[in-house]
Amino acid sequence: MLPKDKNAFLGHIRRLSALNGGEAPAIAARITRSALALVLESTYPRLIALGLSAGDQNLKSKPELQAFARWLQGAPFLETAFWLSSAYAGLMSPVRRSEQALFFTPPALSTRLIGSLRRHGVRLTKARFADPSCGGSAFLAPVAMEIARELSLSGWSSNRILAHVTNHVVGFELDPVLCELSRAFLNMALYDHVCRVGQLLEPKIYQGNALVTALSYAENYDVVISNPPYRKVTAAEFSKLDDAYHHLVMGQPNLYALFIDLSLRLTKPEGHVGLLTPAGFFGGRSFGPLRNVLRRDASVRQVDFIEPRIGAFLDVEQETALTVVRKSSAQASSVSVFVTTDGQDFVPLGNHVLAADAYAPWVLPRSREELSALLSFATPRWTLADYGYEPKTGFLVPHRMPVPRLRRKGNRLWVCPLIWATQIGKEGTHDFQPGRRDHADIYVDVSGYGCDRVLTTPSVALQRTSSKDQARRLRCAPITQAFVDKHGGYMGENHVCFIAPITGRQPAVSVEVLATILNSDPVDRVFRCLSGTATVSAYELRAMPMPDPVIVRRALTAGASPNEAVLQGYAAISTKRDGKQKAA
Ligand SMILES: C[S@@+](CC[C@H](N)C(=O)[O-])C[C@H]1O[C@@H](n2cnc3c(N)ncnc32)[C@H](O)[C@@H]1O
Repeated sequence: MLPKDKNAFLGHIRRLSALNGGEAPAIAARITRSALALVLESTYPRLIALGLSAGDQNLKSKPELQAFARWLQGAPFLETAFWLSSAYAGLMSPVRRSEQALFFTPPALSTRLIGSLRRHGVRLTKARFADPSCGGSAFLAPVAMEIARELSLSGWSSNRILAHVTNHVVGFELDPVLCELSRAFLNMALYDHVCRVGQLLEPKIYQGNALVTALSYAENYDVVISNPPYRKVTAAEFSKLDDAYHHLVMGQPNLYALFIDLSLRLTKPEGHVGLLTPAGFFGGRSFGPLRNVLRRDASVRQVDFIEPRIGAFLDVEQETALTVVRKSSAQASSVSVFVTTDGQDFVPLGNHVLAADAYAPWVLPRSREELSALLSFATPRWTLADYGYEPKTGFLVPHRMPVPRLRRKGNRLWVCPLIWATQIGKEGTHDFQPGRRDHADIYVDVSGYGCDRVLTTPSVALQRTSSKDQARRLRCAPITQAFVDKHGGYMGENHVCFIAPITGRQPAVSVEVLATILNSDPVDRVFRCLSGTATVSAYELRAMPMPDPVIVRRALTAGASPNEAVLQGYAAISTKRDGKQKAA
């Protein structure tokens, strides 16, 4: 996915960081400018003569900087731009890097997104483009290059081409150094034309918080293309924003939801939006209002999933996707879905219809194996509630709650076990053993808490987060009646979700059978169609189709493996609702 050897790049960054010591933004800027200047001197000399950054003489003579510039030499232009932007990010502190989301789009993905927009009808030479968080022009530069190539073929002069690009390719960006890099990269992208005209291109890159500055450009662009920043927005930040974003709030909003909404506002009716984002907004309750906007004001045309294990970005672990939407009240009948495992080859996974409810999660396959899992979303279907169970998030947030934690029970009254996610074993067992560090505290003093905090029924304890290397999203273990009888009750740590019987209902299966079902491969695949993040939320668990419990139990009793039994339970999905009620 990344264009060159990531480890070699990180080695350069380590040596460059040592140059002036520290991670101050001003130092990062000076080093990046000087690396850029060395690249300009070797490959784009006229740009320096025309006034682009000449860098810092002292820094340019450093062997570390020269070695980095040599490493960049010979790489295609878009790769050079990608590594220079990434160097600026890499020289910053990790805190600043994630605060600003300084993770840039590799050329393979910008090429794919631009190609997809074209296939959906965008004509590059006719459209006005904007990127509301343009970073180092990862999208604007290749768009400008393609426009210039096509206009050249149509016989346009370099003068006209540069004027056209100036008026049709626009960026917004918070960081002034990235604005500067964007200007330089756009000049490098159109080098031959700039040389012919003998004057630098002066692209429109507006510096500032785009959530504020771009609002006045509503419906100005035919295409908005963006890899927006992502992180939670604080209440203080949100209160300073225009009311225009208030409809998106359900819980704490993520910055990228606001940017997706902004992208749609900036787009003209019938225009297109191309996004590279975390896939989290396809599911998750808090993204319901955003999904509603995207379904109400636009139509979702294409989704490309990027296999999380290859990682779309330097330093980031999450499921990402490219999405193409058209701003149009006429809904497309279905979304074309693709998946890539290398950023080059995009395997088609068919066309899929989104649920009629505009707030509902987008149920889409991420792999060929998940295609059959989609059948289970047909109605009528079983859910956890039909099984007589409901998910509850573990109450205790260590470090935030003054509940005394203990290593041993001792002889205190009102002490009960504390269940950590690490007690849930790979084999689906609950290992009530002291873990490492904090996890060694496996008891809590709950004298200050009522039974709504202390669970007193058996349940299925399920890990709420999974790592990208973990084979399955759902990993759980039963907390048995025998455990409850022995300890009287238990409290959950916040990284565990407890799927507990609904009061007053007779569950369709025991917690042991429920854990077997949830730990099966078919259920994991069904869940992946619903969820775009490594976090397992109660909202998605509630929405997840379950297999027919009567069929599963019968198959297990007859000696079928859990996977076979669950597959049979899903195959019987057409079971009538009456059948469900009888079983429950
Ligand atoms: C994930 S990066 C993507 C950059 C670029 N579009 C790309 O694809 O490589 C997000 C960019 O958003 C910028 N950014 C963060 N907050 C912003 C804001 N409020 N307004 C404008 N840009 C912002 C960051 O500085 C960063 O360059």
